[in-house]
Amino acid sequence: MEQPPWWQRGVIYHIYPRSWMDSDGDGVGDLPGILARLDHLTWLGVDAVWISPVYPSPGADLGYDVADYTAIDPLFGTMEDMDRLIAAAHERGLRVLLDWVPNHTSDQHPWFLASRSGRDDPKRDWYVWRDPAPDGGPPTNWVGYAGQSAWCWDEATGQYYYRFFLDTQPDLNWRNPEVQSAMLDTLRFWLERGVDGFRIDVLSLLVEDDQLRDNPVNPEFREGDWPYLRQHFAYTHDQPETRELAMRIRKVVDEYGDDKVLLAELVVPIEALAAYHGPDGDGIQVPLNFELLEADWNARGIAAFVGRYLAVLPPGAWPNWVLGNHDTPRVASRLGPAQARVAAILLLTLPGTPILYYGDEIGMTDVPVAPDQVRDPIAALIPGRGRDPERSPMRWDDRPGAGFTTGTPWLPLGDPAVNVAAQRDDPGSMLALHRRLLALRHDSPAMSGGAYEPVQADGDVLAYLRTGDDGRWLVALNLGPGAGRLDLAVRGRVELATTPDRDGERVEGHLDLAGDEGVVVRLD
Ligand code: GLC
Ligand code: MG
Repeated sequence: MEQPPWWQRGVIYHIYPRSWMDSDGDGVGDLPGILARLDHLTWLGVDAVWISPVYPSPGADLGYDVADYTAIDPLFGTMEDMDRLIAAAHERGLRVLLDWVPNHTSDQHPWFLASRSGRDDPKRDWYVWRDPAPDGGPPTNWVGYAGQSAWCWDEATGQYYYRFFLDTQPDLNWRNPEVQSAMLDTLRFWLERGVDGFRIDVLSLLVEDDQLRDNPVNPEFREGDWPYLRQHFAYTHDQPETRELAMRIRKVVDEYGDDKVLLAELVVPIEALAAYHGPDGDGIQVPLNFELLEADWNARGIAAFVGRYLAVLPPGAWPNWVLGNHDTPRVASRLGPAQARVAAILLLTLPGTPILYYGDEIGMTDVPVAPDQVRDPIAALIPGRGRDPERSPMRWDDRPGAGFTTGTPWLPLGDPAVNVAAQRDDPGSMLALHRRLLALRHDSPAMSGGAYEPVQADGDVLAYLRTGDDGRWLVALNLGPGAGRLDLAVRGRVELATTPDRDGERVEGHLDLAGDEGVVVRLD
């Protein structure tokens, strides 16, 4: 049997670099900081890190507005720091994935400065420039992230440019072959330096309709929804050309060996998500599955989604699961601290690659920001949707700077009692639960790569079996606050639970679950 690739068995840990570890006291995390804390990751038991953008950037979208794809922003350190980080990670058996932001650049990128300088500039066509509609307004009805017109007027050259996000994040024109080759070369640049893959930012947005057809209006839009949901993105997202480009991007990383991996953010329905794997596994290996970020948290709904998702995957495609990221309220705030423990078991025992957001392993919650502490531009554009709360710095200990910084942290710190040092040696802690789950995955072929079979359960209990060379495991999760019971035709022993005093308990005939309790049982 061929060995499965590392990223199928492994767990990927997502670092938001501004917030993980600050080495120089400026209050912002950096690459030497990550290097200094790598042992946390090996101790925890993850296999790879994905680091949000560290490229030179004016910071309008805190790094997702890139001004140079092949350099390091001095805020985060130097290219030598990156080389050292990659080497040190590899020495520890950890892979390093970088964030790649191909859809748009910063408006300060030299490409856009040139493109904007005049209609005859050789880089004009590197971005999506269009004449106004006959009435002088935007060329189409397309809307951007904040629900505004996606077209930005440029007075000096008398045309609109297309941008889905901020005015300062113009979309590249991926129909232009020069753009394609320049951008694909930026991947090669990092692959040459030894990175193990990339997380691709908003891949589904790369190409727009060249006939400029209007998007249909979404009749189900309600006030209070994300503003961009007011349209169906028929002509701006997930175009056939975008899917072809996904395959081309994959070919580039394959030039560097078959153990490189691509994760991609795709804001599309699951059938389309599944399609990005490619018909022959020649697309994106990990099209990020965001269902758990948004799903109604009940057993029947989650069970149904797992079944649907596994059913739509093309043959050979590998699933993946995300419970938190830098754009979404934290799981411990969404579900509460008790249910967040249950969710951790779910994330780390479902079939597929889990992506773990930094700080979720200690149960960090959203940290509210006062108006004068707001850093995320989205907070002003879409009231109530600012992403600062989930980006609060990692709490390493209970010192004033949380062990994160000796200076003033760039965002406010959360509850001092929630920190790595306090949880490291506490067997009942969230951190200990994560470490045990990660160890279980590593030791158990059934958990990391085995078969999945749903188990009938009542009420708010979600149950499934995982089966592999090491035998059979039952996972039973009570997603609600009321007590639950699962009738069993099997017997076994509790391997671990959200409540540590159940370790070793014999199970036979039925399994009782307290509210918000999750249990992993090793079957006889
Ligand atoms: C992605 C990133 C988000 C960013 C946006 C624009 O959604 O995850 O943080 O603001 O792209 O680049
Ligand atoms: Mg710093």
